[in-house]
Amino acid sequence: MEHIDILAPLDIELQKVRSLGGSMSIVVIPQRYADKALGCKRAVDTAVSMKDYLVVGLFNTQASEASARFLSIPKGIAVYPQDGQEIETLFFEALERLRFMGSTPWVKRLWDSIKDARTSGLKDDPESRFISSTFYQFLALLANHPNEMKYLLGDSDNPELSWVRDYIPYGHWNSGDSRKSVSEADITELVQSWRYQEKLEAKSEKGKNTLRKFRNIEHLFTLPSISREIIGLAGDSLLAASKMAGIIEKDPVLTSRILKVVNSAFYGFHRQIDSVEQAVVILGNDEVINLAFSIAIHKILETISPEVAKRLWEHSLVVAHLSQWLGPHLGYSNKQRLYTVGLLHDLGKIVFLQRGHFIGGSTGPASLEDLAAEEIDSGISHAEMGGYIAERWNLPEAIVDGLMSHHLPSKARDMSLAVTVHLADVLAHCGGIDLAKVNSAAVNYLSERKGPAISQDELSRRAGDIVQRVKTILET
Ligand SMILES: [Fe+2]
Ligand SMILES: [Fe+2]
Repeated sequence: MEHIDILAPLDIELQKVRSLGGSMSIVVIPQRYADKALGCKRAVDTAVSMKDYLVVGLFNTQASEASARFLSIPKGIAVYPQDGQEIETLFFEALERLRFMGSTPWVKRLWDSIKDARTSGLKDDPESRFISSTFYQFLALLANHPNEMKYLLGDSDNPELSWVRDYIPYGHWNSGDSRKSVSEADITELVQSWRYQEKLEAKSEKGKNTLRKFRNIEHLFTLPSISREIIGLAGDSLLAASKMAGIIEKDPVLTSRILKVVNSAFYGFHRQIDSVEQAVVILGNDEVINLAFSIAIHKILETISPEVAKRLWEHSLVVAHLSQWLGPHLGYSNKQRLYTVGLLHDLGKIVFLQRGHFIGGSTGPASLEDLAAEEIDSGISHAEMGGYIAERWNLPEAIVDGLMSHHLPSKARDMSLAVTVHLADVLAHCGGIDLAKVNSAAVNYLSERKGPAISQDELSRRAGDIVQRVKTILET
């Protein structure tokens, strides 16, 4: 028998709805759940059996209601009129959704659609990369369901899916108790109740609004001009001390601050340093560039509450110095860049704070939940926001990329830089490397890298030492 004949009773109902004006849900359920499903349906609903499936038509019902009616039963739902006008169209749409939902690996499919969202629709818009590159709410869902993830990944190194792990903290992956059984139905229910598509749409709408709002704040995008000139010098290794000093001395405030800092206990020189040129000769170009850069950037912090600014500033400096020290151990040796990315890694937090947006992770490294909460509030997290500002400042792409991926190093074009800043951030917050707070991809990167490992003791000692030294700078 043709399926259209089997669907005839539903078609009659649909015609009624069409003439009265209303909605109707068509729900396709696998035959083995038919008994359970029939127990959930109302008297006014119509059900027909079609080979492997039970098809139920729910009179005047929207998708959310239909989904709640058949809770914990795998199903595909299509709704008249939004999903189609004809009974056949609706049936095939619902069937397609059932296949999509019921099939493993759904995580991979969801992920593919994130990637699609990244390349389509917003393609012509240069701001789209900041909005569509990550979906933290989804990653937080994965991280909080380690058992379901292990079920999907087969608890082993399924190469097709191993990327999933790279996006969650190592601690979350390890916390899954694989003895706890998870069924396909549990997973289907999880996916359906989570409303992936709706959340993704809300996120990109919010993200667009946020960037639109920040785009119009002109002063945010004028990096202090002296900083721009100094960043321009950063690539020039043969730069003469006198040329560098000449640029810095154009700004008397900057000059006096640099002299104050080089004469502070942080550097511990016995004799007085009284010219920028002398400071450059003694400290080296890179160090002076970093100093000048930090002092110039510090101006941006002047617009937020002094207490918060002080905490963020101290944290930024500690991460900058720790990144510079850690980088060469992890395969990244451009010290200038390490310093800049470390210093600016939470730039997005500063601009979010200025405009009353929510920021997460004020007491520790931002968790996926923190980043997801930022995303719910603004459509993007502080990491993307920082990348966006850096791009508007015309900073090099490596810096933009480093800022954007400091919480998810597997997203980075250059893993070594992103892993370094990620670890420096955790180290700055925790005084050691707490694997529960470290991204799994960073842990993998460390374990695959050959070379002498740094002991936890040395990490803590260094972190403590740098925090102390930064405090002495801040006192001047
Ligand atoms: Fe951050
Ligand atoms: Fe941070």
